[in-house]
Amino acid sequence: MRLKDKIAIITGAGSGIGEATAVRFAEEGARLVLNDVDGENLHRVVERVRGMGGQAVGAHADISVEAEAASIADVAVKTFGGIDVLVNNAANFTQMGLEQATMADWQRVYGVNVFGTAMVTKYAVPHMKAKGGSIVMVASMSAFIAQPNFTSYSTSKAAGVMMTRSLALDLAPFKIRVNSVCPGCIVTSASHREVERLGLKFEDWYNDNASKHMLGRLGEPVEAANAILFLASEEASFITAAELMVDGGYVHW
Ligand SMILES: NC(=O)c1ccc[n+]([C@@H]2O[C@H](COP(=O)([O-])OP(=O)(O)OC[C@H]3O[C@@H](n4cnc5c(N)ncnc54)[C@H](O)[C@@H]3O)[C@@H](O)[C@H]2O)c1
Repeated sequence: MRLKDKIAIITGAGSGIGEATAVRFAEEGARLVLNDVDGENLHRVVERVRGMGGQAVGAHADISVEAEAASIADVAVKTFGGIDVLVNNAANFTQMGLEQATMADWQRVYGVNVFGTAMVTKYAVPHMKAKGGSIVMVASMSAFIAQPNFTSYSTSKAAGVMMTRSLALDLAPFKIRVNSVCPGCIVTSASHREVERLGLKFEDWYNDNASKHMLGRLGEPVEAANAILFLASEEASFITAAELMVDGGYVHW
């Protein structure tokens, strides 16, 4: 088992990539602190992991509120006694161009993707310093390429990549590795919301996007989860400050 008895926090674990990561981590023996702002989905995923024989506790919190972000580390320490792995996966997936986005839109996107991620990490790190560990940021291929009307989301994900590199340097003396996983288009509830927003048929949206990935298809949540698992585990012991693209070749085509 690649994460046997490791204590792992996963934010945004109530659906999509976060849920798939929770399931993969449970299969590999981790003890899980699962966070989401959506209490119903969070409860469902906690029960799903327990149904597999895994250990999981829910930390219902909106990470864009500092006190709530801080409470996630508290749940980990009180329930399991520490933190070995942090997966910063929760995000606000609102895509908007500069002229459409209001100050409130920018604050919402950055509040979760940048400030919330920073706060969850700030309060988790003191509990990781003694033993070392691994932090995985779920960034995006959008951090590296321009896409129409993606300004707020893409810049927030580029900040996530730079947060990864900066923290990797600051936390290396404590044997805490920090890396990013950068997904291409992965089919999740966020994709369905996007299709609805664009007023497209799912099949047309899928085919158009699939043709932009070298592999000619979109990804599944478990494919991103497997990359997160690799970086979280000791198999990645000499990897830090890295960006692992999980994008079917999109960015380099
Ligand atoms: N799906 C894709 O194509 C894709 C591509 C690139 C990157 N990503 C990234 O992958 C990660 C997961 O995305 P997904 O596609 O699984 O989306 P998703 O919407 O299925 O899951 C995101 C989860 O985060 C939770 N969340 C949102 N705001 C929160 C907050 N303030 N506090 C706590 N939880 C919050 C949501 O409730 C949701 O359960 C995100 O960081 C996203 O930017 C996704």
